[in-house]
Amino acid sequence: MSTHSITVGILTISDAGSRGQRVDTSGQVIRELVEARGWRVLRADLVSDEREQIADRMRRWSDEVDLVLSTGGTGLGQRDVTPEATRTVIEREVPGLPEAMRYLSAQQTPMAWLSRSVAGVRGRCLIINLPGSPKAVRECLGVVLPLIPHALETLHGPTNIHPAA
Ligand code: MTE
Repeated sequence: MSTHSITVGILTISDAGSRGQRVDTSGQVIRELVEARGWRVLRADLVSDEREQIADRMRRWSDEVDLVLSTGGTGLGQRDVTPEATRTVIEREVPGLPEAMRYLSAQQTPMAWLSRSVAGVRGRCLIINLPGSPKAVRECLGVVLPLIPHALETLHGPTNIHPAA
């Protein structure tokens, strides 16, 4: 992305956080890591683990930012519905990103395999689920952040059609 800095939306998904019962720091960790790369956080919000609330933010933000990073709700708990909400929003899945997050961070933390996170594109926006803990956010972003500029370059490129040889 040479012409403009990458714009980002950070969506924290947490029942306790949305009720004010817990201060969620994982969104702040995302902000620090993306701003350290010179990217701009234009949207940030915290919602409870409700499919419609999650999907609504992702749908709206996909017209407004290049990249949506969600944190939380990717596990096996009965209320963990972030991957299901994300699947209703994305048009094309990008399985390699969560595969890489799980595979590479599992070498430090075997629990990484328990995240059901997904990633995909909607229009010109890339959406990536991250697990909920600040530690997991650091580990997973360490894997995917270096890939994002090229991912967005290809997503924003003029065409995917190769001229006939
Ligand atoms: N991934 C990394 N890299 N590091 C972690 O510490 N925690 C795991 C997993 N992914 C973890 C991780 C744990 S313990 C759970 S339960 C799942 O993410 C789901 O977390 P979530 O429901 O908060 O999204």
